[in-house]
Amino acid sequence: MKKCTETGKPSKGWKKVLLRILLTLLALFLVCAITVGISILVCRSSLTVHSYDVEIRGVTHPFTAVLLTDLHGKEFGEGNAELLELVRQQQPDVIFCAGDLIDGSASLADVERVSALLGELTGIAPVYVSYGNHEKAYLRNGGAELRPYVEKSGATLLDEACTAAEIAGNKICLGGTLGHLYLFGRTKEAYWSSPEVKLMQEMEASGLPTIVLAHMPDTIIFCQAYKDWNIDLFLSGHTHGGVIRLPFVGGLYAPMQGWFPEEDMGYFNYGRVQLVISSGMAGYKNIPRVFNRPEVCVLHISG
Ligand SMILES: [Fe+2]
Repeated sequence: MKKCTETGKPSKGWKKVLLRILLTLLALFLVCAITVGISILVCRSSLTVHSYDVEIRGVTHPFTAVLLTDLHGKEFGEGNAELLELVRQQQPDVIFCAGDLIDGSASLADVERVSALLGELTGIAPVYVSYGNHEKAYLRNGGAELRPYVEKSGATLLDEACTAAEIAGNKICLGGTLGHLYLFGRTKEAYWSSPEVKLMQEMEASGLPTIVLAHMPDTIIFCQAYKDWNIDLFLSGHTHGGVIRLPFVGGLYAPMQGWFPEEDMGYFNYGRVQLVISSGMAGYKNIPRVFNRPEVCVLHISG
């Protein structure tokens, strides 16, 4: 039963309860704010490793690959020493860089810094690089030609191209594309004559195990494009793991996929085609990563 004063106003007892509720809500808000703040700081500089086991028909010698994406010109330690050390610890047989190593607004100094990073990586294992939408934006914005910077580092650029690579005793057909493997608003003629379709056809015809660096997972997941291709493994980034990862929910937002993306990071098996999406290493524009540590993605590939 309510305790009332003679004036009909709530008693001091109710005021106390109200005050306690408000203080509890304030404390919860502060705890959440502090937790998010700490997470932002951790996710700004602290790398982690996510590993996946992938089986590819025709691989006779198991090997380890490191997948790096979406660095956006960031540095982890002086000269990326922390990133390099973490990659070195994985003892990879091959390193794949699947796009957005630089930002679309990068300076020449940024490009040279990433070129130096690629040079260091080639000292660990052979490096294969494909472009992301940000490298393409950099080039569109009048940036310097990137190919010489990749090639002087000793890495191999796969720009709508493929190569038969020797990896730990396996011959693998490696390709790189930023195209879309479905109509994407084009006529059928334009689609079938596009560089990405010709590249996939060439890779399928190789008869070798096939791995494609495709920065955007949209390339193969939109319109269920994976049903149309006979490629073993696609490696992507671009999603930044949904940028902010909500506990028990997952990523909040990914470019192209929008809010609460389903394919934001991890391993996906579509039957014939497999896909691994790295959450990458940077935030998205000015939005920091939350509960989403930058990652070095490691693939243990066997037959
Ligand atoms: Fe991207």
